[in-house]
Formats: sequence, structure tokens, C-alpha cells
Amino acid sequence: MMRRFCSVLLCIAMILSLAGCRKEAEAEPTDDSRFVIGFSQVGSESDWRIANTKSMTETFSNDPRYKFVMENARQKQENQFASVRRFILDGVDLILIAPTIEEGWQTVLQEVHDAGIPVIIMDRSVAVWDDNLFLTNIGSDFLGQGKKAADWLNKETKGDDQVNILHLQGTIGATAQIMRTKALEDAVAEHDNWVVTEQLYGDFTEAKAYEVMTEFLRTNTDIDVLYSENDNMTFGAMRAFDEAGITYGKGGQVKIITFDATKEALQYCMDGKIDLCVECNPLFGPQIKDLIAQYRKGEEIPKHVYVDEKVFTSADLDQALIDAREY
Ligand code: AHR
Repeated sequence: MMRRFCSVLLCIAMILSLAGCRKEAEAEPTDDSRFVIGFSQVGSESDWRIANTKSMTETFSNDPRYKFVMENARQKQENQFASVRRFILDGVDLILIAPTIEEGWQTVLQEVHDAGIPVIIMDRSVAVWDDNLFLTNIGSDFLGQGKKAADWLNKETKGDDQVNILHLQGTIGATAQIMRTKALEDAVAEHDNWVVTEQLYGDFTEAKAYEVMTEFLRTNTDIDVLYSENDNMTFGAMRAFDEAGITYGKGGQVKIITFDATKEALQYCMDGKIDLCVECNPLFGPQIKDLIAQYRKGEEIPKHVYVDEKVFTSADLDQALIDAREY
């Protein structure tokens, strides 16, 4: 009798737990209803990049209407190609690409196009002959940033004899490098007294910049200006200057121009260690979301969207502004 009673109880418990499972399964949102975005990110080479990744993930991962799949390419274009091809196989609804470098995208973008998947290029650009291969390209006006830096330097060095410029370059072939370099080279061509004494390759990272700067400063110290294509390379260069006993910033030997205007760089700028911070705004996740929404409604979206950016010297800064800075 007792055994029969126990088996009845066991059956009831099993039925109840099965019913519970069914309920839970029904409550889960199905993947099918979500808009799936595959995102190939450059890497995590800089504070700018980390802020950009945060802006993207916060924008899309917190919205239940989207499934956001990000793959980190670790600064290698071949990793990006592999990710994009995986996204095609997975049948995502849209592919977002922050390209490492501009060249080499024609074939893989054609494959995405043939698969009928829309593409948005963000941050940097791609050099393809058919711009129907992507919906839009959103990011910075890198040439404009370089021109702002050159304009500032022009005013700062009026009347100087020779201006020796040390140029730290980011990833060769990336739009941020190509355009910031072009702006400097164009300006040098217009100034008889400006000389680029050396171009050093820092790959947008602090470690690489520190390494090449340390080596360079062993034999060359005649530098008036450092034109550094991002903040992290600038931090590496500052460390190398410190170790070589070279002064910089207000009242120092070297004027420093840096790109990105991260919180840390702005603090150095206010403290007189960096002379000019040219802003490169990484927080465009929400703008991309708006563009996607427009596209899904069938509205026309612009082929190129530039984000808002400015420049800062110490005169433009106060602690409240820096403390409130999001990146
Ligand atoms: O493409 C944007 C650039 O890439 C930023 O200036 C730099 O910090 C990043 O690595």
C-alpha cells in the first residue's frame, strides 16, 4: 500500500516538473524574432577601441529586439574575413564591419552582397570600386582631424626657424593612419620650415610606440613636435621621453599633438603635459542603431555619416568636463 502511494506521488511530481519545464521553455524569447547583427571589431588595441566596443555592446545587447554577435579580429584582416564568412553561413540579418585596413575587401564584400545580407562599415573605411557593397559608412572625418592639428601647429610655430616633427603612425593602411598622415604631409608641403625628421610605426598601441620611441631617442633628440596618431601611442612616447630626460608639454622641449582625446589624454592636457588633443569620438553605437532602424523601415540613409568632433587645449578644459568624459 505504502509503495503504491509513493509511486503515485512520484508520478505527480514528474508531471508537475515537466509542466514547469514547458512553461519555462515557452517564456524564453525565441531567437527567430530577433534581428541578428554580426559585428567584426578591429581588436582591443587602444582605449578608443575599448570605448567603441562598449558603446556597441551596450547599445545592442541591452535591447531584446537584437541579437548581437561580436568577433574580435585582434588587428588581423584575415580574422575579419573568417568572421564575415561565418556570419554569412549563420545567415545573420546584417553585418557590421570596423575594417582594420582599407584595401582587400572587394571579394568578401561581394560574397556578402551575393548572400543578400546588408553591410554597414563603421569607424574606418574600405577601398572598393563598388560602393553598393555597403549601405553606409559611419565614423570620423580623419582627414579633417589631421587638418585641425595642422592648423593649430601653424599658429603655434609662426615665425619659428625650423620645426622638427616626429611622426608616430598607427596601423599602416587603416583610414585613421592614411588620412592623419595625409593631413600632416600636405601641411608640411606648404611649410618650408616644417621637417618630418622621422616616421615611426607604433601600430596604435602603447607598447609598440614605447619600444620604437625608446630606440629612436637613443640617437635622436632634436625634436620640436610629436605628431602621434593616437593617445595610446602618445602615452608610450611620453614614457620614452621621461626615460630619455626630454621635456614636453607647456614650457618643455617637445609640443605634443595627439588624436582621440580620451579622458586620460585630456587630463594630461589640462595638466600641461599634452598640448593638443584632437577628438575622435568612438561613442556612435546609438547612431548606428538609428541608421539600422531607418534602413529597416525602408527609408533612405546617407552613404557617409561623420560623427561630431572637436579639439582641446588646456584652455578648453576643466576638471568637471574631464570627470564627465565617457571614455
Ligand atoms: O580608427 C580609430 C582609431 O583606431 C583611433 O584613433 C585609435 O585609437 C584606434 O585604435
